[in-house]
Amino acid sequence: MTTIIELLEEDHQQVKSLLDDIKSTGDDAVRSRRDKFKQIQEALEIHTRFEEEKFYPRARALTGMDEEVDDDLEEHDEAKRMLDEISETDPGDAEWMEMIEELDEALRHHISDEEEQLFPATRQAMETEEAETLGKEYARMKKRASAQAAE
Ligand SMILES: [Fe+2]
Ligand SMILES: [Fe+2]
Repeated sequence: MTTIIELLEEDHQQVKSLLDDIKSTGDDAVRSRRDKFKQIQEALEIHTRFEEEKFYPRARALTGMDEEVDDDLEEHDEAKRMLDEISETDPGDAEWMEMIEELDEALRHHISDEEEQLFPATRQAMETEEAETLGKEYARMKKRASAQAAE
């Protein structure tokens, strides 16, 4: 069965590849830029919500990595500010791609932090059963969100 850490890492891959897609678009690809940016926003909305509400509190309790978790939370706030700013800018503006590049850098930094520090420590400290139960819970939450989005 899939653990929560595997699922969160899959999201990281998805977001990185969407960012790569956006960076390879030309200034005339406004619609595709907008679509892909929306996919990033949606993926991150649910991902960060689950990390903040469920995963980080357990990871913090199991590993005692308070400083690390606090940093990760700050990085989430920063990313949310960047996402808001980008969504208020026209994808055809030169500024838009600069903002995407900043977002790309910030997200890759955050993702490496998680994957190199908190995730391995949590993987060690968490029972497989709990990691799988959290995985199931997260998969259900994502399913509900996509059903709602399709309505
Ligand atoms: Fe993450
Ligand atoms: Fe995160």
